[in-house]
Formats: sequence, structure tokens, C-alpha cells
Amino acid sequence: MKHKPIIIANWKMNKSNSEALYYLETLKQYPKELQKAIIIIAVPFTALSDMHKAISRINTKDIKLISLAAQNMHQEKAGAFTGEVSCKMIKEAGCEYVIIGHSERRQYCNETNDLINKKLKYALDNDIIPILCIGETLEQRNNKNFLKYITVQLKECLAGIKASDARRMIISYEPIWAIGTGKNASPQQAEEMHAFIKNFILQNYTKKIADEIRITYGGSVNENNISLYLHMLDINGVLIGGASLDVETFVRIIGNSTKYNK
Ligand code: 13P
Repeated sequence: MKHKPIIIANWKMNKSNSEALYYLETLKQYPKELQKAIIIIAVPFTALSDMHKAISRINTKDIKLISLAAQNMHQEKAGAFTGEVSCKMIKEAGCEYVIIGHSERRQYCNETNDLINKKLKYALDNDIIPILCIGETLEQRNNKNFLKYITVQLKECLAGIKASDARRMIISYEPIWAIGTGKNASPQQAEEMHAFIKNFILQNYTKKIADEIRITYGGSVNENNISLYLHMLDINGVLIGGASLDVETFVRIIGNSTKYNK
């Protein structure tokens, strides 16, 4: 049997602190829906602390409805890095997770696999669960060299990460051509890639870790297609950008996660 799916909302550079809290006020009115999945919300740095306080009042000792993620962190402990935010800072602000290596950061902030590898290690060493994003461009997919590209991303990003750490991570397959375009990968295309990633983990770690590691799909996921992805064998969850911004839509997405009707 499949575990509860993971549904991650990545707000990107959207929502001020007050807007974030307003969203949560509505979201908390749907505890039954929230229990259908592991819900993680990745909010801007400025909203982390207050969101954490508000989420702490919603979660109980026995039932965790919502977890908090940062969208990035710096790879060094502390120092003269103007404008950066450290792992300790996001942890103290209440994050359990951090998105690392999103394609937008690779593209706009020149993040390399090597840098991402450092961030992953730092997060894992400090008990923050990283959500590693990987994925190919449309050109790479059309040129049919995307499997090679994904293999290099996995090899370089995971270099030196030990098995006991790898098993705690979430890997998110996010084909760049599907992000924010409305052109989602078909559930079959996504499943193929998830199986490929699982196989990489199997080859480089163990079968047990390949079974344990959670792999989510991201790229134009919405309320109509979520259940098609979650129905696939190797898809453990989804990472949602645009469609997570409207709280009522997000509640419907969560609600539909368990409704498979092909
Ligand atoms: P969209 O859901 O807007 O395509 O964004 C996906 C994404 O980048 C999530 O990290």
C-alpha cells in the first residue's frame, strides 16, 4: 500500500507575511482535507516565523496537519554573505524542510550542482530535510539526452551524501518545460522519470533506500491532474507552484488527491 502522499506548496516570491497568515486562516478550516496528505508549505523567508507560530497552534501533539519549508538557504554556517539566510536561521524560524536547487535558482542565481551538493549536506547535517529539485529543459528532452543530464544532476548533487542521509531526503522531479507553462508532463512521462531516479538510487545506494526515498513530481500540477500522478507507482507526491497560491484551489487539490477516476 502507498503511504500518504506528500503535497508541497511552493509559493515562490508571492505573499507577504499578512497575506500568508490570511491564507492559513482559511486553510486551517479544512482539517479533514489536510489529513489526507503530508502538507508542506514553502513560504518566503519573511513569513516563516509568524507562519510557524500560527501553524503550531493548528498542529496538535498527535496530529501534524501542516509543515513549513524554506525555499532556499545558504551553504555556509554564518558570515559576511549580505542578503543570505542560513540553515540555523530557517531552523529557528520553524522549518522542517528546505527546497534546494529549484530550477529558478539554477537559472537566475547560477546555482550549480556543486553548490547544491554543499547545501544538501549542510541541511542534512543540521536536521533539515532537503527537497532536491532536478529536471531537464525542453531542448534536452527533444534532443533525447535528458536521461544523461538527469544522471549528472543526481550524481553531482548527491556526491558524498551517505546512505543514512539520502534516505531522509525528498527528490522532486520538475521538468523545466512543465513549470508554470500549463504543459504538464503526462503521468506516464513523470512515472518513467521517477522510476529512473529510483533506479539511480538503487544502483548507488541500496534497494531499501530506493524504496524509502520519496520522489515528488512538479510542473503544472492542478486539481484536475493531481490524482493521475499520485496513482502512479513511483510518484510519492507533488510540488505545486501557481495552483497552490489560491487557498480554495489548494484545498480542492488536496481533496482531489485521493479521488482517482480515470
Ligand atoms: P507550477 O506548479 O506553477 O508549474 O510550478 C512548479 C514549481 O516550480 C514548483 O516548485
